[in-house]
Amino acid sequence: MALSQYAKPPTPFLQHSAFIFFSILSVYAINLHATDPPLTLDYYSSTCPNVLEIVRKEMECAVLSDPRNAASILRLHFHDCFVQGCDGSVLLDDTITLRGEKKAPTNIRSLRGFRIIDGIKNKLESECPGIVSCADMLTIAARDAVILVGGPYWHVPLGRKDSRTASFSLATTNLPTPDQGLLTLISKFLYQGLSVTDMVALAGAHTIGMARCVNFRERIYGDFQETAHKNPLTEIYLSNLKSGCPPIGGDDNTTAMDYFSPNLFDNSFYQILLRGEGLLNSDQEMYSSKLALETKELVKKYAFDPIAFFQQFSDSMVKMGNITDPDSFVTGEVRKNCRFINT
Ligand code: HEM
Repeated sequence: MALSQYAKPPTPFLQHSAFIFFSILSVYAINLHATDPPLTLDYYSSTCPNVLEIVRKEMECAVLSDPRNAASILRLHFHDCFVQGCDGSVLLDDTITLRGEKKAPTNIRSLRGFRIIDGIKNKLESECPGIVSCADMLTIAARDAVILVGGPYWHVPLGRKDSRTASFSLATTNLPTPDQGLLTLISKFLYQGLSVTDMVALAGAHTIGMARCVNFRERIYGDFQETAHKNPLTEIYLSNLKSGCPPIGGDDNTTAMDYFSPNLFDNSFYQILLRGEGLLNSDQEMYSSKLALETKELVKKYAFDPIAFFQQFSDSMVKMGNITDPDSFVTGEVRKNCRFINT
């Protein structure tokens, strides 16, 4: 599917200047990813027929040993795709000649799962050496991660190549951060050819996994009390959050983003937003911002209709996985070790 088909036009609620801003962004995004990525479902059917089983087995072990690993792999895939497209660039280690993405502000001390990726790659290299790209492997692993914690299944188009470069600066600018306002968040998804609907559905990934205190301190000492309903349970929840995340220090202390069911992929994340108790400011913005007309309706829809959420999440994950730089098919490679380009 051409990305232009899902670069949704701006909605009427946006003011005139924002409308023009998003129009330009949409056009820019379409130009960036104008062609259909040449990905197919049966890409490895003759060269590595067991690829899906191998990845699934490794992911089963990883998630069994710690359910958070599902969340960490899903996030790795997202952070890969938003920087140069899904090309395994996020997996590259720093070397003398290459500045990787792992130390970019959104990634450092935060991204996890690299050893799991190494383990899957080792298995694939012994079964079908030099065949399966790290980018494809990560895309399959992210799909399996979601299924293993109760989420939806989708078919994964394959055939991505691994980049021979990474971009610290794009990792710094393209990835959304929790302190950003709704319009900035939307613009970062539009830039990638993803729509407002894609953004709200994909943010539902926060139904699993953890966040560090440094990323929600301003929220819990800021407008949490304003957005949340006033009731004793909320008061207790907030005071627990504060005791795990003091005003100073404890930056790396972690808390689940979905306190109802932190290890289950379900729609309770959206129900938390309806209660005004989103942990990240960026998540609560989708429901509580004054500009949140379209996003608010989507949050309500997914809170009440888990099937609609699963369907949209699957579709949006395929779209996100299809973000590719056309050049990567010419200049890319299949890395032997996901941490380093081939010599
Ligand atoms: C809408 C914009 C988004 C923002 C601002 C955002 C921000 C964040 C932040 C701040 C964290 C916590 C990191 C830490 O404290 O170390 C996080 C975790 C996470 N994010 Fe997002 N995120 C966004 C969208 C997404 C998307 C699109 C996905 C996947 C499709 C995703 C998947 C996850 C997962 C699974 C975790 C938990 C990771 C773990 O426990 O290791 N996020 N996100």
